[in-house]
Amino acid sequence: MKLFVDTADLNDIETIAGWGVLKGVTTNPTLLSRVEGDPDDIYRRVCELVDGPVSAEVVADARGDMVKQATRLAGIHPNIVVKLPMGAEGISATATLAEKDIRVNMTLVFTAPQALLAASAGAAFVSPFVGRFDDIGEHGLEALHEVVDVMNSPHFNTEVITASVRSPVHVIEAARMGADIATIPPKVFYQMLQHPLTARGIEQFTADAEARAAHQG
Ligand code: E4P
Repeated sequence: MKLFVDTADLNDIETIAGWGVLKGVTTNPTLLSRVEGDPDDIYRRVCELVDGPVSAEVVADARGDMVKQATRLAGIHPNIVVKLPMGAEGISATATLAEKDIRVNMTLVFTAPQALLAASAGAAFVSPFVGRFDDIGEHGLEALHEVVDVMNSPHFNTEVITASVRSPVHVIEAARMGADIATIPPKVFYQMLQHPLTARGIEQFTADAEARAAHQG
């Protein structure tokens, strides 16, 4: 499973890209609202930091406006993938953009039927939201599993991005069920690095190495 980071924070992207694990980036209007700067400049910088798909979200209601905005965003850099919201307008815009070879990441997907529609319209990626489904008392991982099963059909060339990830458990379960990608918030990346026994082990090894060096003089 490929790992993407879900943020528009350039410092976090640079840090995690430095680990050599990142294959792409997703952003959304909420994540962009948390950082300073011109969105186009931010997308350009993200594309310099990570060589992979970088999702930039369209904010429009009607399919024509979606196509216009998406075409403009896709022109910023060849790695830009446009994010469109699930719905009749988004699906229709996806079909138009797919014909122009503009890659779409269909966002706000919660169910397998929604994913099926997005893939049928030619979306390159579908993003089922796990955490937000859990938040309303549904089973986000079960819904993700259904999407992964349906997208495994040879009829589709659509990758599943596990989105709305809230914990390392979500990431591992997504990998176990064969999701193509997980887009992970920086906080969860930092949690994935850690274990108390790792920290204790490093402390012990360092102390023993120092004691030996001191002893040998
Ligand atoms: C996906 O691409 C979205 O940006 C993101 O995963 C939403 O996550 P949230 O539910 O934590 O806002």
